[in-house]
Amino acid sequence: MKRTETLPDRSRNVAGITRSLSLHAPLRRTPQRVLRAMLEALPEDSLPEDPVAELERRMRGLIGTEAALLFPTGTMAQQVALRIHAERRGRRTFAAHPQTHLEVWEEQGYAVVHGLRFRPVGDRHRLLQTADLAGVADPLAALLLELPQRDIGGQLPSWDDLLAQIAWARQRGAAVHLDGARLWEAQPFYGRPHAQIAALFDTVYVSLYKGLEGIRGAILASDARTIGEAAVWRQRLGGTVDDAWPLAAAALVGLDTVAHRMPAFRDHAVAIAAALRADGVVHVVPDPPQTPLFHIHVPAAPEATEQAAQEILREHGIQLFLRLRTSPHDGHCSFEVCVGENAMEFTPDEVAALLRDLVHRADRAGADSRRLS
Ligand SMILES: Cc1ncc(COP(=O)(O)O)c(C=O)c1O
Repeated sequence: MKRTETLPDRSRNVAGITRSLSLHAPLRRTPQRVLRAMLEALPEDSLPEDPVAELERRMRGLIGTEAALLFPTGTMAQQVALRIHAERRGRRTFAAHPQTHLEVWEEQGYAVVHGLRFRPVGDRHRLLQTADLAGVADPLAALLLELPQRDIGGQLPSWDDLLAQIAWARQRGAAVHLDGARLWEAQPFYGRPHAQIAALFDTVYVSLYKGLEGIRGAILASDARTIGEAAVWRQRLGGTVDDAWPLAAAALVGLDTVAHRMPAFRDHAVAIAAALRADGVVHVVPDPPQTPLFHIHVPAAPEATEQAAQEILREHGIQLFLRLRTSPHDGHCSFEVCVGENAMEFTPDEVAALLRDLVHRADRAGADSRRLS
């Protein structure tokens, strides 16, 4: 018997979920399934002796840099990259989109841990525009660009805008850092090799667990001197984990099994958006999606939508989202879809029917709560 057959499949028991539109649903992330996928893709005789070194070697090739270093999180890797750019230039400020992960999700670690200052640029609901940069007078340590911009539905600037923004930063002596958490997802939009996109930047971070569907972890890639300094910072911050090989092995599986599927995931996202547009009940941003990631805007209040989604989960075992986003418009909310293996299990028409059902149930839940209050 193959060793992998001894691992029980508990995926159908994760909180009653049998299918999910969310990339991060626990469905494919149970220890059993992760281990099985690793053993299938990397049988014992082909398991690299040092998965971390092998991953760093593969990433150097893909991203096209002299050096690459595994970090436990992208949060740590990006703060370190900005700290290095700041110390080299004797400047404390970095500029980025108002919804950068560093500002929204990291408890201001860049300031509290590294003494850096954040200069938001542009409108929080739109892509950063080259014209927005004209208003930045502060001497910058770095300009951070996130490709794609996750919190506005995975939007991407045109190649020419990207070149113009990078040229603007370089003319002012600033470094350019890529938040490429989803570089794999962004690549089909540009139709250029990952290395050609990455070559525009001084430092590049990519995630090992988003599109690659690994466990956790991040790679910071750059020239050898910068990565040498990053390794010292990783040690200082307690991020040098000697036995981090499971993170690397899971990412190697992702590189071999899902990285090449990004165009198919993006095409499926476009097909889902077209079905939703034809149905007309919800609204997709951006439409059409530019990557496998997009947002669905629902014409119902978040509380009623949450209740409706729980009903659908209980009745059908289908999870539509992990987290709802509120909206400045009363009676509206939104959620993120990132097409990966989970969302490929849904046909576009099925998603449209599910969203119609969600809104119908949310309307009913809203009417019930108004009657009771
Ligand atoms: C755009 C972006 N940057 C950075 C990060 C941080 O990655 P990590 O969770 O590995 O700290 C994330 C995580 O969601 C992200 O979406």
